[in-house]
This record gives sequence, C-alpha cells and structure tokens, in this order.
Amino acid sequence: MSETYIESAVCDPETAERLRAVDDVRRFFARLGRTGEDAPKYYIQTFGCQQNEADSERLAGMCAAMGYTRTGLPDEAELILVNTCAVREHAEKRALSIIGSYKHVKDKNPGLLIGVGGCMVTQKARADKLKNSYPYVSFTFDTGAANRVPELVRDALNGRGRSFVLSEEWKIAEGLPIRRESKHMAWLSIMYGCNNFCSYCIVPYVRGRERSRSAGAILKEAEALIADGAKDITLLGQNVNSYDGGPGEDGRRIDIADLIHKICALEGDFRLRFMTSHPKDASDRLIEAMAAEEKAAKHFHLPVQSGSDRILAAMNRKYTAEAYLEKVGKLRRAVPDVSVTSDIIVGFPGETEEDFEATLDLMRRAEYDMVFSFIYSPRDGTPAAKMENQVPREVSSERMERLLALGAEIADRRNARFVGRTLRVLAEDVSKTDPEVLTGRGDPVRPIHFRGEKSLIGQFVNVRITGARTYCLEAEIV
Ligand code: SAH
Ligand code: SF4
Ligand code: F3S
Repeated sequence: MSETYIESAVCDPETAERLRAVDDVRRFFARLGRTGEDAPKYYIQTFGCQQNEADSERLAGMCAAMGYTRTGLPDEAELILVNTCAVREHAEKRALSIIGSYKHVKDKNPGLLIGVGGCMVTQKARADKLKNSYPYVSFTFDTGAANRVPELVRDALNGRGRSFVLSEEWKIAEGLPIRRESKHMAWLSIMYGCNNFCSYCIVPYVRGRERSRSAGAILKEAEALIADGAKDITLLGQNVNSYDGGPGEDGRRIDIADLIHKICALEGDFRLRFMTSHPKDASDRLIEAMAAEEKAAKHFHLPVQSGSDRILAAMNRKYTAEAYLEKVGKLRRAVPDVSVTSDIIVGFPGETEEDFEATLDLMRRAEYDMVFSFIYSPRDGTPAAKMENQVPREVSSERMERLLALGAEIADRRNARFVGRTLRVLAEDVSKTDPEVLTGRGDPVRPIHFRGEKSLIGQFVNVRITGARTYCLEAEIV
C-alpha cells in the first residue's frame, strides 16, 4: 500500500474556521508528549460506494493533520471512524455489526473514541438508534458534516459528552486534506448529491441536492494528484452528467465534457475515468469527449436498472429501454470497442416474469462487459418501499441466478475479443494469490493478470492478452 498525503489547494472560509480544531487536537496530544512513535492511532472502516471511499480519504487526511497515525488494527486505535452506507439493508446491517464489535475494544481502552459518519447516520432514525443503543459511540456526523470531525474529536477528548450531528448542511466543504489510499489510483469528487429521486433509492435523502465543485478547484486537485503520481483518475459523482461548473469563458456552462477536455489537457501520462452516468442525461458531448481524448478511458458505466418500460417508469428513471439502447448504439459507433457496464436491480416491486425477461433481453442487446446486479432492498422513506406487490425473496433470488448466468455468458464472449491483442495496462498491485503476478486494468474494467516485477507497480505497461476467463484476463508483458 502506497499512502500519500496532499493538502488542498482551495479552502472555503467555513471549513477553514472549522479546521482550526485540528490544531487544538494536535496541541492536546503534544502536551501529553504523544507525538512521533507515541502518536495516537486512527482506524477507518469504510462501507459503500467510491464516493464514500473518497470521503474516507478526507477523514484520514484530517486524522493525519490532527496528529494521529494510521493503523490497520482497530484494537490499537484511539480513534475509530466508521463511514457508513445506506443503499441496501445489508450495508446497514454490516455497519451496525462492525460498530457492535468495537464495544470490546472500548471495554479494553475506555479512552477510545468511536465516530460514525456517512449515509446511514444521515437518517435520523439510525442516528437515534446509535445514540440510544450504542452507548460506546462517541459521536455521529451526517454526510454534510465531515468538516466538523476535528471539532467533534476535540470536544470528545475534552470530555464534553456525546454528539449526534444532523446538520443537513449539504454545502461543499472545500479544503479538507486528503490521505490517499493508493499513489497511482485516485478518486476526484466533482459533485455531490443527487436530484433524481429514483423511487427505490435512498441516496438523494442522505446526500442532499446536487452541487458541483468549481472547475478551478477540480483542476487544481487534478494537478496535485498527477504531481503526486496518480496515473488513473476517476471523476466521481452520483450523476456526473449533470455536472454544472457555472458559466465558462464563452458564457456556456462548463459541463462534464468540458471538464474532461480540460483535465486531459493537463501535462502528464494518466488515464481519466468518470462515474456514474444517468442514461437520461448522458450527452452526445460526453460521448464525443470520450472518443476524442486519448487519455479518456474507453469505459462507460451506464446503469440501466431494468429492461422493462413499465418498471423503468415505476422506478422514475425517465427513459425507455429503446431510448437506452439507442444511446448505447451511439456510444458504440463513436467509441469503437468501448466497454459498457451497468447496474441492474432484480425484484423491484411489481416486477413480473415478463418484466424480468425484458431485462435479460436488454442485457443481450446491450452486450455488457460487466453487470453489477442487486436484489431490490426496500429503504424507509422512499416511494418504492410503500409499493404493493413486493416480490418474494425466493422469486428475486431465482431471477438473480439467471441474470448472473447470462451476465457471465456475455462477459465471456466480450472477454474473448481481447485474446491476442496488446493492451496498455496500469500495473496496480501484486496478485493476492501469486506474488510473482501483477494485476492491472486496461480500458476494459476487468482485471488483467501478468508476470512482472513489483517495481512496475504504478507504471503503464504493454501486455499481450493470452487468455480470457469470465471476470479477468491473462497476459504477458511485451
Ligand atoms: N448514482 C448512481 C448509483 C447509486 S447506488 C447511479 O444512479 O447509477 C448504486 C446502485 O445501487 C444503483 O445503480 C442501483 O442499481 C443500486 N440500488 C440503489 N438503491 C437500491 C435498493 N434500494 N435496492 C437494491 N439496489 C439498489
Ligand atoms: Fe439513486 Fe437514482 Fe440518484 Fe443514482 S440517480 S443516486 S440511483 S436517485
Ligand atoms: Fe451508499 Fe451513500 Fe454511496 S448510501 S452507495 S455510501 S452515496
């Protein structure tokens, strides 16, 4: 693991004010001689999507700035932060069970602070549950309140009692330092929140309305990341297609396509990705930007959710299966050999066998390189949770198996096309099963395994694909 630390180039006044607590915490530990070898340790547990991973890198950045050093062992930590997800029931259950397991750590070390943030605790009922049933949790903070963490830590260290922040201040906190998990792969948040209110989804309720960072702040961060060794940068947002950077030099709003052009124009050898796109907003300009920019990865994640128009309408997705497939067709014509991937929900309320067949049919026609599929999970407060005809679990599970089988069959076919070709791959890591094998990723999303020296990690290498499995490729360096 190659962790790096970057300071933010731009800071908003409110965040600057709040970050003063960083120095208070630093002084608190310095007075106790707790620096260097004796510095207190932090541990962060992250659930959920890339957005949360990016947020956790900012939490880690603040921990480092406060004088904590990182540990991979919760038992050693004096500050544990859990960054939660609420997208499905399973994610919440896992977070609650992990938090429950930290009770023993707290029993052994009463000075331990446990803070819980993220999407789960942005719901009042869940924050209340932690307040009432998890007395060893020191504080919670909602997704809009990450910049308050240093204050929460300072107040907890000073014995000011437990805090449960539900600020609902969904502004952009510009200026939080970042402790990056990987030197060569980087997340770059360009916008936060979502306005789409798909009827099954909790995200708009726990992430607030859409707001975009300024193009200037994004470009500065991109420059800092590239200078720091980033070779694979992913622009993040719940729906990056509605990025709105305000009026540009020509008076037109700076959109995602402009942003891609601007970042790709930066000096350096890197690859640029973006996610996620909403099919109703994926624009021709974005497709053209991907086609035109050599540094833009030829991968488009375009979640369809269902292939049935009836279900798509009930999901409030605002497109039909035909309109979706037309967009994929346009993409394939503009970007030959592009990898298209998708998210699909199985067992949305009212989904009939016929609806499900329509989804399978769409999968065949879209020819996905990879599909991320989820069994529908009712979320409190969303319209779909109140819908009648919830699909029984056995039915969803059986459909899921069929979907996975078809997904694998298509992925196999798509993978076979690479055999014999030479691809440019970023060597990312050593394989978990063989220390002499490296794993990396080319434009297609699947992992590529090849024999190589560890020293290649973080560099682009040309490999010839020698074999294809369902979810990975085998290759040799050329
Ligand atoms: N903003 C992104 C993804 C958000 S959540 C987008 O719109 O694509 C990631 C995926 O989780 C979604 O694409 C959807 O497939 C799935 N998901 C969201 N809510 C869900 C729920 N209640 N049950 C099951 N899957 C869900
Ligand atoms: Fe959820 Fe839909 Fe927004 Fe994606 S676009 S985060 S699925 S509401
Ligand atoms: Fe989960 Fe929140 Fe992401 S609900 S999927 S962590 S935006």
